[in-house]
Amino acid sequence: MKVTVKANANIALTKYWGKKDAALKTPWNSSTSVTLDGLETTTTVEFDKKYKKDEFVLDGKEFGPETDEFKEVKEQLDIIRGKAKIKDNAKVVSNNNFPTAAGFASSASGLAALTFAASKAAGLNLSTKELSIISRMGSGSASRSLIDGFAIWHRGSAKDGSDSFAEQIAPKEHWPEFRILGCVISKNAKKIKSRAGMAQSVKTSPIFEQWYTNAEKDAQAMVKLIKEKKFEELGKLAQSNCILMHACAMTTQPPVIYWAPGTLEVMHKVLEMQDEGMKCYFTMDGGPQVKIICLASDVPKIKAALKEIEYVHEVIECKPGLGPRVVKENLF
Ligand code: DP6
Repeated sequence: MKVTVKANANIALTKYWGKKDAALKTPWNSSTSVTLDGLETTTTVEFDKKYKKDEFVLDGKEFGPETDEFKEVKEQLDIIRGKAKIKDNAKVVSNNNFPTAAGFASSASGLAALTFAASKAAGLNLSTKELSIISRMGSGSASRSLIDGFAIWHRGSAKDGSDSFAEQIAPKEHWPEFRILGCVISKNAKKIKSRAGMAQSVKTSPIFEQWYTNAEKDAQAMVKLIKEKKFEELGKLAQSNCILMHACAMTTQPPVIYWAPGTLEVMHKVLEMQDEGMKCYFTMDGGPQVKIICLASDVPKIKAALKEIEYVHEVIECKPGLGPRVVKENLF
């Protein structure tokens, strides 16, 4: 069967940075996120005997078996084949509508779309929890892209990783005026992948323990703030959590510095707007892009302020988004 799925990226409101178990991909701390409407991966998967080997095409480019991208996809397909007890090879074609690997979490939407599409194409009917666990095996943050609206990825404590999955805190309708403004600072792929960066942080950052202990508390506090729609407190918490994550990355050997001059420029602008009483807050993941957390009513003012910054090539406005869904139009 051929199945096509669309899945959205997500932005962590409180972050994940560090695996406790590298094989199971379980994190040191829980993390929270909002799924982003409009930042989308579309993936078609077909298992069939006619394919002599697995094939993977991303954004029009074929990735051969020697590439990391292919290996990631194959690992996911192997998990699904194991569960469905099938041996057929698969063709996977995937498109992102946003810059790949530049800090817009394309791995999250990509792995979530792949896992969902492959499971359906293999004839499985898995629960969101099971899909979240399998997506986590592909990429930690992908576990959260399975969720409509606001999510928490529980760090879990089971030895087999069976309680480390994402769950909904609230659906997107809970907070329709919630906005993320994605500022595109650079469209180039980042130099240090999150996976490699965080693995070094676990080993070498002198503040790693402080980071994850704090981040666990932040995640639990964030759940409450989302449920109660306490915007100002939420923004401040997201911002401070992001700074501590980056402090942990920067104090890694060798240093993991994702901020570019434009990143700092936007951060300062946001802080300036905060001083003027605006309710907007910044957060960044493993790349130079800045995501501004705000409410719909303040979007025009913030966009006008961002126009003054040369480094900002584009501003992508996102509402809370849907979880993965099957669509009719196949990519091949
Ligand atoms: C900074 O989920 O991309 O975006 O599990 O190794 O694939 P892997 O890492 P990934 O890391 C995301 C890190 C982050 C913070 C976050 O999304 O929580």
